Amino acid sequence: MKNIDWNNLDFQYIETDIRFVSNYKNGSWDEGALIKDSTVTISECACVLQYAQTCFEGLKAYTTVDNRVVCFRPDLNAERMESSSKYLEMPPYPKEKFVNAIVDVVRANIDYVPPYGTGASLYIRPFMYGSNAVIGVKPALEYSFRIFTTPVGAYFKGGIKPIVIRISDFDRAAPHGTGHIKAGLNYAMSLHAIVDAHNKGYAENMYLDSATRTKVEETGGANFIFVTKDNTVVTPKSASILPSITRRSLMYVAENYLGLKTEEREIAKEELRDFKECALCGTAAVLSPVGKIDDHGNEIIYGSSMGEITKSLYDTLTGIQSGKIEAPKGWIRLIK
Ligand code: PLP
Ligand code: COI
Repeated sequence: MKNIDWNNLDFQYIETDIRFVSNYKNGSWDEGALIKDSTVTISECACVLQYAQTCFEGLKAYTTVDNRVVCFRPDLNAERMESSSKYLEMPPYPKEKFVNAIVDVVRANIDYVPPYGTGASLYIRPFMYGSNAVIGVKPALEYSFRIFTTPVGAYFKGGIKPIVIRISDFDRAAPHGTGHIKAGLNYAMSLHAIVDAHNKGYAENMYLDSATRTKVEETGGANFIFVTKDNTVVTPKSASILPSITRRSLMYVAENYLGLKTEEREIAKEELRDFKECALCGTAAVLSPVGKIDDHGNEIIYGSSMGEITKSLYDTLTGIQSGKIEAPKGWIRLIK
């Protein structure tokens, strides 16, 4: 176990000992290896540097209440990365090898997995990029797939204290664009919007659909869930948001563990006032309650503590991840 202040970790990069690397050349992926070097050397003209040909994933490893180390639904991250790679004209990394590499890299950094009860976890970041020199606009011929790990605490400062967000005047994703995949470019174009939001005191941006600006989409790094006054859990349906694995899991938990009604449907901005709870969900965000949404000076207020249904969803999901509550079959991958 490393000498780290597990209880006070931020969501920040801490270099760990070992990472996984596999390279793609002449039409195939090599065997891949665990290596020590955390740096990358590539051509100044690499496709990733010139044309942002890169996608990534995010998942976490946890120490359970009975001291095992597990990760959550890595097969779904493998599948989503496959769809991201295909859309960016990159060669998919095989699903089974992806999951095995996750297990190997976490085992190799096992001393960095935060202990049970600290609220911290080991964040796992698989990513892929076009590495050879490309000057005309076309996909690379060579790629690297890498996975590093880093111990993290809560994504939003203050942990589960409700955050304040704003409705953004910037757009995140175009209809028929790249909003549904985890492309680095989606995050590059959100940087100005997030810096502007932070400068004005907001934790995140709520993006609306860019075609009509009337429907709720997601934030820069998480999906939304809402709770209606009659306790239905509602989440936006849109082809331009990232299909969150946390959200899919929460909707299952709502129906099958908590007996609640769920709906995935278009959500009009006008409806925001009708909901009684609002939260952001994602690997990094887990389930972070939203206390207030600022719509250009008009405030929509959900309250200063986590809502009742959000709390049940949060407790059940984190209970499943930490081994306190039995998981649906296939959700938990044992690492140690
Ligand atoms: N939406 C965006 C834009 C994200 O970056 C993330 C984080 O991965 C999510 C949603 C949540 O997805 P997941 O629950 O699979 O982590
Ligand atoms: C994740 O939740 O894994 C993400 O990639 C979101 C990012 C804002 C850290």
